[in-house]
Amino acid sequence: MAAIIALANRKGGSGKTTTTINLADGLARQGKRVLVVDADSQAQSTISCGIMPYQLAVSLYELLHIKMADSEAATSKVSDREHQVYPKGDSEIAATIIRGKQLFDLIPSKPDLSALEIELANRSNCQSLLKDLLLEVENTYDYILIDLPPSLGLITVNGLVAANWLLIPIEPTFLSMDGLAQMTSILYKINAELNPELRLMGIVPIKCDLRTNLARNVVEEIRQNFGDNRLLPPVRNDIKLAEAPSFGKTIFDYAANCRGASDYLQLAQSIIARSGE
Ligand SMILES: Nc1ncnc2c1ncn2[C@@H]1O[C@H](COP(=O)(O)OP(=O)(O)OP(=O)(O)O)[C@@H](O)[C@H]1O
Ligand SMILES: [Mg+2]
Repeated sequence: MAAIIALANRKGGSGKTTTTINLADGLARQGKRVLVVDADSQAQSTISCGIMPYQLAVSLYELLHIKMADSEAATSKVSDREHQVYPKGDSEIAATIIRGKQLFDLIPSKPDLSALEIELANRSNCQSLLKDLLLEVENTYDYILIDLPPSLGLITVNGLVAANWLLIPIEPTFLSMDGLAQMTSILYKINAELNPELRLMGIVPIKCDLRTNLARNVVEEIRQNFGDNRLLPPVRNDIKLAEAPSFGKTIFDYAANCRGASDYLQLAQSIIARSGE
């Protein structure tokens, strides 16, 4: 059964997408079977894999929409499948997963996903749609990484309900600590009300320059508040990590010898050790 890791932080630009894609590739290079779920309507994980969202016929949006229709049909006993975009025979999730040039698989996203937030808002019992979806493939992978949006809407709640691990990337600045405190209180709420299985895998300092007092102080504060074993190996500032998505490449394909690649490899090894393998 896969370790399902949600990458979340309410603070925008904290490195969720960069970590999702490069950690996925790092894990795949350690021989793991990895699926990335792009659960952000900005579709930046999808774009980072060199896939243009507007060219996609199907994506996470259609899959979740089908799950929504199925759960309503189960309660109303009326079958009302609005999305007949899939060919008959193939499972819908299998037909959506992209096995591209990367070493990992991808359920892509497109901007339509933002509409799903609105569609879900009027419905009850819609926090487990992603969990139900991933049940269909969780035996096929060792790791499933979910790239979440910076907002705390129903898509993020779905991601936190589907996952058994929470990974929080943060930029080590003073203001980020507030976002981190918010994420831990969200974790407690999700544990209490929706998913007791969700555990904190750890916090990854991103764009981390330990030569500065600020970064050192923030990292030390994380260590004191969360303990040594929740502080994951940091990822240093590396412009190559910002360049790679424009070529649709991970850091390992774009600049295998840069410090970003070595940091993400170390992070992947640490995640493998922590997820109990
Ligand atoms: N270690 C790094 N060194 C340099 N630049 C980085 C590093 N990590 C991320 N970046 C850059 O920082 C920006 C924000 O990163 P990213 O898109 O991964 O954050 P995010 O949390 O997914 O953002 P959002 O909340 O909008 O989804 C991007 O331009 C990315 O290329
Ligand atoms: Mg992102």
